[in-house]
Amino acid sequence: MTLPEGYKIRRIEKKDYEGVVETLAVLTTVGNLTREQFESIVDYWNSVQMYHDKSIYKYNPSVIVDVNTDEVAAVGNIILEQKLIHEGGICGHIEDIAVSKNHQGKKLGKALLGYLSDLGFQSGCYKIILDCNEKNVKFYEKCGYSTTAIEMQKRK
Ligand code: ACO
Repeated sequence: MTLPEGYKIRRIEKKDYEGVVETLAVLTTVGNLTREQFESIVDYWNSVQMYHDKSIYKYNPSVIVDVNTDEVAAVGNIILEQKLIHEGGICGHIEDIAVSKNHQGKKLGKALLGYLSDLGFQSGCYKIILDCNEKNVKFYEKCGYSTTAIEMQKRK
């Protein structure tokens, strides 16, 4: 994973509330998520470890930030699902990838995908999957992913 100069990547912290909410707005509706809710969810994410290795988090919310200002430029997550199949294997789910408008096109998305994918495989994933819109297929192909299935959903 190569991160462009001037940026670093780290786990989400409670102080990232505004930056994360603003960045996620390029992806979808975040709605009225309060700071208290955000902080409580960060606490929850930090409290769940994998059963096979307590040093590994199930949720891996990550941000790319400006090294000087700590401003959030990109956000994403990989959730590690403990399965029974594949001899108790682990499947990684890449979720909620967003690069803020003024940082798009600087290879931050690709760097984030590289980081999350490495994290997943180093944590024992036998595969990593994600759902995306047709318009982002080329981006994910450039990150090493390929189309294998059809997403189906049922909404309330
Ligand atoms: N179509 C075709 N190619 C693309 C696209 C696209 N939509 N987006 C990026 N690329 C290419 C770039 O040209 C670049 O190619 P190169 O390596 O040959 O030069 C490569 O993909 C890497 O691009 P980045 O600069 O890393 O992309 P960026 O940082 O702008 O992030 C992203 C891409 C995440 C799609 C960003 O535009 C974004 O946040 N979009 C809005 C939110 C979104 O749709 N998120 C994905 C949701 S799916 C999910 O979360 C699992």
